[in-house]
Amino acid sequence: MTISLRLFLLLGLAAVVWSSDVDHKALNEKQRSIVMDFLDKDFKPCTSFYQYACFKWSDSHEKTRDNFTTVAAMLNYEANMEVMEYLEKTPQANMPDFVKNFKDFYGSCMEQREFKALTYMHWMEKEDNMKWALLTADNAEDVAVFTWPTTLAMFRKYGFNDIFLKETITYQSSDKFTIALSKPNYGTYNYLNSYHMEEFNTSIPLPPGTMDFMKLWEIIDKFEDKLNDMKFEKEKKIYKFTELPYAWMREYLLALAKPKVPDANMEIVLDNVAYMEAFDRLLKEYDNLFLTRYLEVRFIYHMAMAQKRDTPNECMTTAKSLMPMAFEWIYAELHPELQHEMAKIYQMFENIVKNVNRTLHMDKHGLIPKELFEKLDTIQLKVGNLPQENSKEILQTYFNVLHLSPTEYYGNYLKLLRFHYELEHTYANYGDTNHLRDNKEFFYKTPEYKYDPEIHPEYYAPLNILVLPLALLRPPVYHVDFEDFFKQSSLGSLMGNGIFGSFETLHDRFDDDQLQQLAQVVGVHSAFEVFFSSLQPEDISRYQTMFNLTSLQELKQMFFLNAVHYRCEWYVANADVVDFMATHLSDFAESFDCKMNSFLKMF
Ligand SMILES: *[C@@H]1O[C@H](CO)[C@@H](O)[C@H](O)[C@H]1NC(C)=O
Ligand SMILES: *[C@@H]1O[C@H](CO)[C@@H](O)[C@H](O)[C@H]1NC(C)=O
Ligand SMILES: *[C@@H]1O[C@H](CO)[C@@H](O)[C@H](O)[C@H]1NC(C)=O
Ligand SMILES: *[C@@H]1O[C@H](CO)[C@@H](O)[C@H](O)[C@H]1NC(C)=O
Repeated sequence: MTISLRLFLLLGLAAVVWSSDVDHKALNEKQRSIVMDFLDKDFKPCTSFYQYACFKWSDSHEKTRDNFTTVAAMLNYEANMEVMEYLEKTPQANMPDFVKNFKDFYGSCMEQREFKALTYMHWMEKEDNMKWALLTADNAEDVAVFTWPTTLAMFRKYGFNDIFLKETITYQSSDKFTIALSKPNYGTYNYLNSYHMEEFNTSIPLPPGTMDFMKLWEIIDKFEDKLNDMKFEKEKKIYKFTELPYAWMREYLLALAKPKVPDANMEIVLDNVAYMEAFDRLLKEYDNLFLTRYLEVRFIYHMAMAQKRDTPNECMTTAKSLMPMAFEWIYAELHPELQHEMAKIYQMFENIVKNVNRTLHMDKHGLIPKELFEKLDTIQLKVGNLPQENSKEILQTYFNVLHLSPTEYYGNYLKLLRFHYELEHTYANYGDTNHLRDNKEFFYKTPEYKYDPEIHPEYYAPLNILVLPLALLRPPVYHVDFEDFFKQSSLGSLMGNGIFGSFETLHDRFDDDQLQQLAQVVGVHSAFEVFFSSLQPEDISRYQTMFNLTSLQELKQMFFLNAVHYRCEWYVANADVVDFMATHLSDFAESFDCKMNSFLKMF
């Protein structure tokens, strides 16, 4: 079957059930049945609320399990289907150039599904004069040209930033900036295994006289253990470029800045001085050739891991992850009705922030640090990951240097990575027009350019902004014609929860799980209070009639069920977070007649 025919069939299946002309009543009835008819009454809401609310979601999505396993990934999948249809049906002539680029990238992904390390390596040899230490014999005359800091800088330009050093740049103004070099988070990365090396061994033929992958592996294995053992308390120090204590560090920054030369007085922040010292000692045990080859293996592995393109959905997700604003722009075109909702959504956010603020001020134990309230006072919402105004013109200007090919996936992929790096590192190039300068920060500080198969609110710390991607505003989370009841319970709870992203300092006091539980409780609590505190008796009876409920208590139960529906998934990973509400949220306990341990009660 050809790709387009397959696509066509798929699109037929994923017919847009939720278009805005669907009868208001039927739409809300459908949402009601999504949350109420799927209840699994074998479970008790007070002890297993997650299972009670979500267990049947999995059953009813058996057929689509290959395409998504969570509600958040379903939003992504369905939004992807719409964008695919747009790309198929819209004449090229009507597409802005950045959308054509997006289409070409997606198309090239569909053409080349398999990861071929050698093709990447050759592309970089040809386009970037890359010389691979892996492919150079140990006794070759030019083996001395390899220095690992130069190689690391080269890979950094393709987004590779999590080995040895993590480099980030912060601008004070268009010509004043600070570079920070920090310790990568070795705790979260995928360690290499011998079978990865066996794969390289079969897919990358090495010339005679080079160290083979299995030999290399013996050294790498021990080396990575040592890297992983380096755990130190953060201690920050600021240096001028010329005063940096390590030659390799200066060499790395010199290579990054090329063809420019770093200013001798440029400030460099080292966030973990002890790590840098220990790393410097470790380096002395290894030679340049090994370190360069290690980085190359890591880079190829990084590229292999970044590839998810077995299905059209995965290709579209890859395209979206690398060109999020193009995706967002298309989605906005497809959903003009969302523009009329903005005032309402921003108002909802304001109410939720106020309520979260009030709730947290009730903390008598001093658990909530002061900085957090400062964040709350200035936090902003952004609906849609696009520049505020003239988004089409701005995107055109930003992306006009990108030229992607409809067939060459590898080249496209590397070009995009390079493009993002340059956007981040060449502030002044965009300085001539005010609106470009104003949007610059937003452009490089927001997306992560990492494969992300779920739609969720995202908090961006440097800007103190909570971004709601437009595709979050789809059923079952949101619909223009949804009753406020549904809008407030799901989107309101997600906002309340998302605000917790701003509470970085809380990480010193709570572990990740606790923080998620706290965010969930406070998020749902705020949405609940905001909604029910302004609910009039006539609204209550209207909802009761509409949803065939006999009491306010049932309406409240339904509110909680709808609020957690977004968290339903196959793997039950969210159960603890959701169940926590039953023992810590008094409104919840009352609605479901749970006995709550008053010592545990938070709100
Ligand atoms: C590595 O590849 C070579 C052929 O390229 C093969 O002879 C050898 O057995 C492979 N080694 C391992 C451990 O797979
Ligand atoms: C959905 O999953 C099936 C089975 O893996 C796959 O064949 C199909 O291509 C997927 N659909 C999309 C749009 O990716
Ligand atoms: C949070 O509450 C404090 C104290 O009541 C108040 O001064 C502040 O303005 C509130 N901030 C927001 C964003 O509501
Ligand atoms: C309303 O709910 C009652 C039970 O609570 C049920 O017997 C009745 O059939 C429902 N009516 C409709 C229209 O769904």
